[in-house]
Amino acid sequence: MAVNWSLPFEEVIYPESDRIIDPKEYSKLHDLSVKNYRKFWEGIAKEIDWYEPWKKVLDDSNPPFYKWFAGGKLNACYLCVDRHANSWRKNKVALIWEGEPYADGGPVETRKLTFGDLYGEVNRVAYMLKNVYKLGRGDVIGIYLPMVTELPIIMLAAARIGVVFTVIFSGFGADAITERLNDSRAKLVITADGAWRAGKIIPLKGIMDKALAKATTVRDVLVVKRLDGKIGMTRKRDSWYHEILAKVPANARIEPERMRSEDPLYILYTSGTTGKPKGQVHDTGGYMTILHATMNWVFDIRPEDTYWCSADIGWVTGHSYIVFGPLMEGATGIMYEGSPIFPGPDRWASIIERYGVNVFYTSPTAIRGWMKFGDEHVKKHNTDSIRLMHSVGEPINPEAFRWFHGVVGKNKITFGSTWWMTETGGILISHLPGKALVPMKPGTNGLPIMGIDADILDEDGKSQKAGERGFLVIKNPWPGLSLTIHNNPERFKEVYFSKFPGCYYAGDYAVRDKDGYFWILGRSDEVIKVAGHRLGTYELESAIVQHSCVSEAAVVGVADEVKGEVPVAFIILKVGKKPSDSLRKEINSLIRENIGPIASLKDIYFVTRLPKTRSAKIMRRVIRAVVSGVPIGDITSLEDEASINEVKAAYLEFRGELSLKTAQQS
Ligand code: PRX
Repeated sequence: MAVNWSLPFEEVIYPESDRIIDPKEYSKLHDLSVKNYRKFWEGIAKEIDWYEPWKKVLDDSNPPFYKWFAGGKLNACYLCVDRHANSWRKNKVALIWEGEPYADGGPVETRKLTFGDLYGEVNRVAYMLKNVYKLGRGDVIGIYLPMVTELPIIMLAAARIGVVFTVIFSGFGADAITERLNDSRAKLVITADGAWRAGKIIPLKGIMDKALAKATTVRDVLVVKRLDGKIGMTRKRDSWYHEILAKVPANARIEPERMRSEDPLYILYTSGTTGKPKGQVHDTGGYMTILHATMNWVFDIRPEDTYWCSADIGWVTGHSYIVFGPLMEGATGIMYEGSPIFPGPDRWASIIERYGVNVFYTSPTAIRGWMKFGDEHVKKHNTDSIRLMHSVGEPINPEAFRWFHGVVGKNKITFGSTWWMTETGGILISHLPGKALVPMKPGTNGLPIMGIDADILDEDGKSQKAGERGFLVIKNPWPGLSLTIHNNPERFKEVYFSKFPGCYYAGDYAVRDKDGYFWILGRSDEVIKVAGHRLGTYELESAIVQHSCVSEAAVVGVADEVKGEVPVAFIILKVGKKPSDSLRKEINSLIRENIGPIASLKDIYFVTRLPKTRSAKIMRRVIRAVVSGVPIGDITSLEDEASINEVKAAYLEFRGELSLKTAQQS
């Protein structure tokens, strides 16, 4: 299918760089790297420190369960902390943290940790996990923390002793937490008394208590004191983090475990088309290798850089590009706790100015959020320090690209949109300012990075020509690809490797232009991206039908100017139940409490029928088309055409358009 959207395929922008390369030249180098991808990745892996070398670069004896650098031994915490603490970087700042509260004179709290400090803290926390909580290799802990320094410290401490951690985004609600704790079989949970967000307090421990009521494996809870500590503690189960840590000797040292390359480092849950969130299990050796490559090629990280990734560590972007990637490279990174617009819309611009950020990684939603407030709040600050930036999480619209490039980047910076996923571990399609930079185009993702054989296929698996939309796939294995779905290897095979045998199926639509640039267009499945956060419509529907008045629900994503997409629901009530605004409110609070505020429904429409196939599957595609006002397309498998009118009428009525039209007609 040819693409009709007006994407600026021909608009080329040359950044100030001495590494500009013609896309054709790049393709030649890229072809070489792909042809011999094992050797290629082996060369990259050799650049990081291993306790023992691998016996085999890639063990592909049981596809798609690949083992990179099989037989090799290393430790992720050692790579991020010890190496630097034992070098000239000992007194270099590793993390600059800034709390959200703000007074006239500036931020109320900041914290700087050198690599030496980090080494001390990580060792003490590892000592606590090992000797107080008796945790070791293969045990799982859950972490539900806001953006405070304890979060990366605990992740690194766990990695040090081979404890697998699962970080749960601090915006998630109780059911989402329980599901993750139970599926991962977490023994210990670390949370906080609360968190700051946009000047308000989020009662994290209260939410966790609710989640723990249905948790089956958690024995102990540690609580970080971020606020005033006025919360309920459950005797025998809950302890204050600082109190337990105070008992650990100041100079406690724990030797890093020598982990096998294929040993899991962490599990991170992400939403898919159907079913519950899937625990992606990331390995150690392959994961650290892709991060090493991309920190250098994509972020062109240099020893003197101040680097800021504005994501939340609760998502994969934070795992890879706030914690493990930059720390492994010995970079100085920024961690900001709170809202981008607190106390005013210039908070982020002020952070860039105050710390002199050189490399910035953010999301299209954040950029559109800035745009909305106009140029003035950016111009109030000096953002000249930025040399390079990338966005991630959703397609960046060309207008947002042009605005940021012009207003924040003064038309000088390199700016790209890095495509990757929780499953891929690291960035796979991107501009490569640190290696070979092809000219930029507003909104493109650029070219696949070295060693990555990406393609765009039609439904029959045929490679698409330039300008034709298709499904994005990766045709060879790469280091960093998830090992499996926790507790469900069959699902891993089915979701990612069955649609196009031998290829990794990403679930995204994409198109290539004549220069070979990839443009990712959005999800081709029932996943929606709300402000870049990945949500499964199925999860939202499951939460909605928990309401005693609801019989059935269908959720679809609709376009939103700032957040990219937001969910709306079409709901069938049980017999005898009446639609009302208070019911709408109840259903939305159910979603907020169980899944989290990010999943809030923008609109709720009550209907008596939903468009379904003859095999009773809800045709969300049809609903999406109605709501977005685009042609409905093929409906030959539809069971009851009248349901389309029902959905249309509900939509129009709620929008007030129906009454308006009626008024005009009469
Ligand atoms: O649809 C693509 C979109 O985000 C999805 C992956 O979501 P998640 O696992 O939460 O990881 C997000 C951060 C790595 C993809 O399938 N996506 C991610 N980056 C981009 C993107 N879409 C367009 N452009 C991007 N740069």
